[in-house]
Amino acid sequence: MIFSQYPTTRMRRNRSDEFSRRLTRETTLTRSDLVYPVFLIDSENGAEDIRSMPGIKRHGLNSLIEIAKACVHKNIPAIALFPRINEEDKHLDARSAYDDNALIPRALRLLKKEVPELGVIVDVALDPYTPHGQDGLLSASGKILNDETVSILCKQALSYAYAGADVIAPSDMMDGRIGAIRKDLESHGFYDTKILSYAAKYASNFYAPFRDAVGSVQMGKNIDKRTYQMDPSNLQEALHEAALDIAEGADMIMVKPAMLYCDVIRVLKDTLAKPTFAYQVSGEFAMIKSACNSNGLNERDWILESLLCIKRARADAIFTYFALDAAEWLS
Ligand code: PBG
Repeated sequence: MIFSQYPTTRMRRNRSDEFSRRLTRETTLTRSDLVYPVFLIDSENGAEDIRSMPGIKRHGLNSLIEIAKACVHKNIPAIALFPRINEEDKHLDARSAYDDNALIPRALRLLKKEVPELGVIVDVALDPYTPHGQDGLLSASGKILNDETVSILCKQALSYAYAGADVIAPSDMMDGRIGAIRKDLESHGFYDTKILSYAAKYASNFYAPFRDAVGSVQMGKNIDKRTYQMDPSNLQEALHEAALDIAEGADMIMVKPAMLYCDVIRVLKDTLAKPTFAYQVSGEFAMIKSACNSNGLNERDWILESLLCIKRARADAIFTYFALDAAEWLS
């Protein structure tokens, strides 16, 4: 880099015209960067509002198909599914997580029949299926059991693969689950089923509206996931986590949350050179929404800047509840 002195160098020269701003732009955000997370309820028709996430709904199956078609129409490459499971289907052994007739496998079969061109990513974790809302099975003394949980996660992943899932996304943070799931997928002939590992998932306060949306924890109540999700203080550990998941067979890795964790995205991408996704989580969504709603701010500009900056940090794709709006603005 050559640094010369003012006025030889005027940094404002390139900024002074729209054409030169466009030509010197380093990062672009496109519709191909977006994944839309969709909440589901176990019903044919209808959709219900989510109090903690204004404008976002939980969709019944018919409404899901409409949303999926809208995503294709707006050129969004993929959606990610998150179920709200009925209380009577939650068990301490999380057996509904691998029931082939549960909500997610039914939604997958329907999506693959009705909207086959849309990529479908499914979350693998036990929190929607346990009464306590933890991502794993509990021992009698209340500890999360790693290896017992991994064997359930493998059954869950296989059940989803049979139902047509394109991408399996373990978000549970148990040790060894990527390798175990990969081995099971291979031995059942699912060679092209992709694994997106939530490699650097932090124990964040910013998941609270999501937990309300899937009904795993009531709003305002805290749940401690610090024995498996990462400490927000740690960056080196994220590298170690991601390197392990890649060695175990992950095709893509995820950093979550996104906006407050852009340094993590950057380091993982620059160091490991793997497709690296970021999840702009429910709390990040709610923060922007409420700032804009209560102060009459320009939502479009706020949202597009938030997504652009996640890309500048080197995310290859972004899970965002703003995907439908952003795709409209970017078309
Ligand atoms: C569950 C899961 C969570 C999110 C995605 N999958 C919450 C959690 O770990 O408690 C959060 C997504 C969001 O906040 O938007 N394994």
